[in-house]
Amino acid sequence: MSHLDVRRALPADAPAVTGVIERSIRVSAAGAYPADAVDAWASSRTVEAVREMIEATSGFVATVDQAVVGWANLDGDEVDQFYVDPDAGGQGIARRLYETIEALARANGLDQLRAVASLRAEPAFRRFGFQEVDTDQVAFNGHAFTVVRMTKRLDRPLPARPSPAGMRPAATSPALMTTRPADDDG
Ligand SMILES: CC(C)(COP(=O)(O)OP(=O)(O)OC[C@H]1O[C@@H](n2cnc3c(N)ncnc32)[C@H](O)[C@@H]1OP(=O)(O)O)[C@@H](O)C(=O)NCCC(=O)NCCS
Repeated sequence: MSHLDVRRALPADAPAVTGVIERSIRVSAAGAYPADAVDAWASSRTVEAVREMIEATSGFVATVDQAVVGWANLDGDEVDQFYVDPDAGGQGIARRLYETIEALARANGLDQLRAVASLRAEPAFRRFGFQEVDTDQVAFNGHAFTVVRMTKRLDRPLPARPSPAGMRPAATSPALMTTRPADDDG
């Protein structure tokens, strides 16, 4: 039985996190933007830059049987990084990462979170209770990307999943057991 966990990211996770970022963009975000823009986005991060992000922000990795399959972080009041390996996609891993980040934000006393969501991630943020502020074009690595600026007030709870017995793994899933991290380990 596979075991899903979410824990604080460590500098030693940087190579694995870099791989997750690149694969998730190349596979999961393919189609959200033109192919040359996806390529520029996917190849934009070095292991060293990722290590610096891990050291400078509150980052978390999702692991399945200790292999890194997802990465997200909280930078101030912004959910900045948000990537799940395509082989592990559609199983609720982004939700688990987000729950951890929202718990940390609440523990830090934040009353609002921000995100600049890719067109691929915007539906997930919406599911987590974020609302669109506006859309924008941002320049990155020589390409223009349409993004959705979103915010979420933290004075209401995280919307639940639609169906507890649905396709996505909860702690009761026979395929993917989960361990919840402490809320205040930031
Ligand atoms: C966006 C991404 C992180 C989602 O990861 P994931 O583990 O597959 O997402 P989950 O399975 O946890 O789904 C989270 C929620 O979003 C919803 N969702 C995800 N993708 C969706 C889509 N394309 N359309 C509608 N809803 C979607 C799910 O139904 C789920 O809702 P629920 O928790 O209420 O059931 C992943 O696809 C990814 O890494 N994409 C490429 C990189 C990217 O764009 N990152 C964001 C940078 S801002």
